[in-house]
Amino acid sequence: MKRGRDKVSILSVSNVSYFYKSRYQTVQAVKSVSCEFEEGKTYAIVGKSGCGKTTLLSLLAALDLPTDGSILYQGTSTANLDRDKYRRNDVTVIYQSFNLFPLLNGIENVMYPMELNGINSKLAEEKAKELIIKVGLTEKVFKQFPRMLSGGEQQRIAVARALASNAKVVLADEPTGNLDSENGQNVVNILKALAHNEGYCIIVVTHDLDIACQLDVTLHMSDGKMEVG
Ligand SMILES: Nc1ncnc2c1ncn2[C@@H]1O[C@H](COP(=O)(O)OP(=O)(O)OP(=O)(O)O)[C@@H](O)[C@H]1O
Ligand SMILES: [Mg+2]
Repeated sequence: MKRGRDKVSILSVSNVSYFYKSRYQTVQAVKSVSCEFEEGKTYAIVGKSGCGKTTLLSLLAALDLPTDGSILYQGTSTANLDRDKYRRNDVTVIYQSFNLFPLLNGIENVMYPMELNGINSKLAEEKAKELIIKVGLTEKVFKQFPRMLSGGEQQRIAVARALASNAKVVLADEPTGNLDSENGQNVVNILKALAHNEGYCIIVVTHDLDIACQLDVTLHMSDGKMEVG
């Protein structure tokens, strides 16, 4: 993808390859991928099962480092960043299976990243309530535990929790995969609004082409490689 004339990429992937190595075999999951991600835009990463989408997302999240090539966040390679700080403050991940903490209620789940960042509990609670309302839920879910929430409600709590970190980059791996189409669409609408109204950079891995075509840029992966469509 070409770099916009007056936009600077928040994440810049250049010639990234990644190999899973074990004693028995080596799998090249990502093959010389280059792409750019800007704030204020939504991106879909699509492609067949096993083509390397989750692996690329985990490299963007700096859960691991590229075997070759580099990923720059605001100009600094993830290899040189303070990765704990990056994962706490700059990037956040939403999963297909919601991954809420089962023993924490709605508010407490959303407060968690703020508490990790040392924000005072009272403030964190107020902010958590605001975020829960912002993603279209009501006070009803404040004190409910994840097992008492529908899938759509759980995923919105997961989105609210992602926003609690203040990270500008939101990585979502099949965020609508466990939702019906109406709830899936709601989550997509929230993610689109976050990008277009508040400048988030939203990167969504999805199998759902109806969702992909609603996002600003679609990146196609095939057997570890990427092309822009
Ligand atoms: N921990 C691992 N060890 C070895 N190989 C792995 C590991 N994780 C993934 N792979 C391999 O790397 C390749 C890419 O996997 P990845 O999970 O990135 O695919 P994906 O595009 O996310 O697939 P899906 O759509 O099914 O989630 C696959 O061939 C997979 O088997
Ligand atoms: Mg995957």
